[in-house]
Amino acid sequence: RAATDYQAEDATISQGAVATNHTGYTGTGFVDYTNITGSYVEFTVSAASAGASPVTLRYANGTAVDRPMDLSVNGTVVASGVTFPATADWNTWATKSVNVQLGAGSNKIRATATTANGGPNLDRVSV
Ligand code: GCU
Ligand code: CA
Repeated sequence: RAATDYQAEDATISQGAVATNHTGYTGTGFVDYTNITGSYVEFTVSAASAGASPVTLRYANGTAVDRPMDLSVNGTVVASGVTFPATADWNTWATKSVNVQLGAGSNKIRATATTANGGPNLDRVSV
């Protein structure tokens, strides 16, 4: 099955803002996480049936330091400290895939920054 893209700028954003000040994003922008622990972006994604599914996050990290995040599904952390290592600069995007269990129908997938640096810039998730 082909993955569906969910744009970060259309998701629920807590302690972050939609931005366009770098190139290479898809959709109409990306989310710039506030540089604070606990900042998050939450996507509502749909799964045809329950089961394991790759979730692919497209991000940029123009610093030299990892910007780890916890991934939760429907309120439960399913992957802690997922690494989002440096990309060449803020205009260079990379992807990170994590396998998670989804329920049938609507699921809330949240990516929460776990350090005071906040998350990387986040363009979209594909599920
Ligand atoms: C810079 C960059 C932002 C980024 C921020 C950060 O300000 O322009 O896009 O989010 O650094 O360090 O988080
Ligand atoms: Ca930021």
